[in-house]
Amino acid sequence: MIVGVIGGTGLAGLGEDPAPAIDSPGTPFGPASAIPRRFESLPNAIFLNRHGDGHTVLPHEINYRANVWLLDNLGVDAIVAVFAVGGISRTLADGDFVVPGQIIDYTWGREHTFAGTDNFLHVDFSDPFDAGLRETLARSAGRTGIGFSDGVYGCTQGPRFETGAEIDRMDRDGCTVVGMTAMPEAALARELGLPYAGVCLVVNPAAGRGLVTLEVADMRKVVDDAQPRMRRLLVDFLQLVEE
Ligand code: HPA
Repeated sequence: MIVGVIGGTGLAGLGEDPAPAIDSPGTPFGPASAIPRRFESLPNAIFLNRHGDGHTVLPHEINYRANVWLLDNLGVDAIVAVFAVGGISRTLADGDFVVPGQIIDYTWGREHTFAGTDNFLHVDFSDPFDAGLRETLARSAGRTGIGFSDGVYGCTQGPRFETGAEIDRMDRDGCTVVGMTAMPEAALARELGLPYAGVCLVVNPAAGRGLVTLEVADMRKVVDDAQPRMRRLLVDFLQLVEE
């Protein structure tokens, strides 16, 4: 199985080894965020950074359609996405992993569908994340001794962080983590029939939860600390899907 790994703030890359760029076609939707890369030691993965290689593409400006279309066009069988998120649930701490089972979409104005007059499409999205991929991620978490929990991903528009009241509302809605990039990515994958799952890294308490000012520099430190665990989980997952 070839897995498209969409990395973001939560994962800059998959390994230390040189990552050759993959010759990739343009897309009908314009350029993807970055050139997809393959790692010598992980032949069944194609890695794409949704924020661009220099981390310059903001969440509301990401060309989600181009990214998902490109991975599909390169022949991936599934997508595993990595996200940095804020923790809404008070049981979550910085550095925790969440493999979400549900999404609530609070984004607006994004190019969010492949459907159109010549492509009449209403996909079932009752379960936005693929059960089989989530199960395999759970097995990998077990094999590598990495803890994780289930959760509901609330996707906000950004680029600003949320207000305390917005987080309280999301909490009442049932969201346990908040991020800015799972939508429309997950829905676009569904429209193309690509199984999709995600791994969230909690990098801060959501607004009003930790009574601290949210600073990207602090979040980066959590990401840096968690990189080896995230890589271990994904490398094991990539091995498992080959077995
Ligand atoms: N809110 C939205 N997106 C995020 C956050 C947050 O608190 N942390 C990391 N990505």
